[in-house]
Amino acid sequence: MSCDLPLTPTLSPQAGRGSEQNPSPRASGEREGAAQREGEGQRPFVVAIDGPAASGKGTLARRLAERFGLAHLDTGALYRATALLVLDAAGDPANPVAAETAARRVDPRLLADPRLRADAVASAASMVAAIPEVRRALLGLQRDFATHPPASARGAILDGRDIGAVVCPGADVKLFITASTETRAARRVKELREHGAPAIYENVLQDLNERDARDSGRRAAPLTVAHDAHIIDTTTLDADVVFERACALVARALEEKEWQQ
Ligand code: C5P
Repeated sequence: MSCDLPLTPTLSPQAGRGSEQNPSPRASGEREGAAQREGEGQRPFVVAIDGPAASGKGTLARRLAERFGLAHLDTGALYRATALLVLDAAGDPANPVAAETAARRVDPRLLADPRLRADAVASAASMVAAIPEVRRALLGLQRDFATHPPASARGAILDGRDIGAVVCPGADVKLFITASTETRAARRVKELREHGAPAIYENVLQDLNERDARDSGRRAAPLTVAHDAHIIDTTTLDADVVFERACALVARALEEKEWQQ
């Protein structure tokens, strides 16, 4: 599957993926710039971030994208979009045929749909994500994003569960962000309440435990720590400390890459 992702809130605007006035950022000049980078044989700089649900990897990825001028793809949104399409059609997210059909219909514009954030969609996303045909259907789109970021971006940053191990095994930096389940549940409850949503700690904890079990226990691309990933356990760390640690790792890898070229 080839992709030409337009700007959505899940993509980092700082990375020059366009604006409302220029919704197709890979049009014209950017395409030429990207072609030039390819012509010169430069592989884009890629950061892979993996971790369990509510580990803070998405926020970290967005901040790193902004700091380093990288295009950001929240790959969880692709699985959520697949799940939403299945649920909208009153289908069963565990049904491989329904889920694969939906995955092939995922349109990057769907990634901006606020319904993707609903708990029911998150839960259905972890079901469709266990289906190998769904993962295969979404793989090309993710790899294309990593290998063809817009020319105005310095590279790409993708966050998910299998980015370092499967989607971008050759990434320049791999981070694995984790925290205890209780800490992740408490953070999620705080975030939900800040957005005015009622949240009960026990329910959130149970939901995270179920999703963790599905994401780690499935046969197809389970949540994995890539052998060359930097693991950051954020249980006792402030978000800014995590950000600065990650920045140091990305800055060092960027320097090494620029030095090699
Ligand atoms: O990261 P997020 O919670 O939005 O992801 C939703 C679900 O999508 C996860 O629970 C996981 O099952 C699935 N996912 C995945 N591989 C990825 C990203 C997300 O299996 N790279």
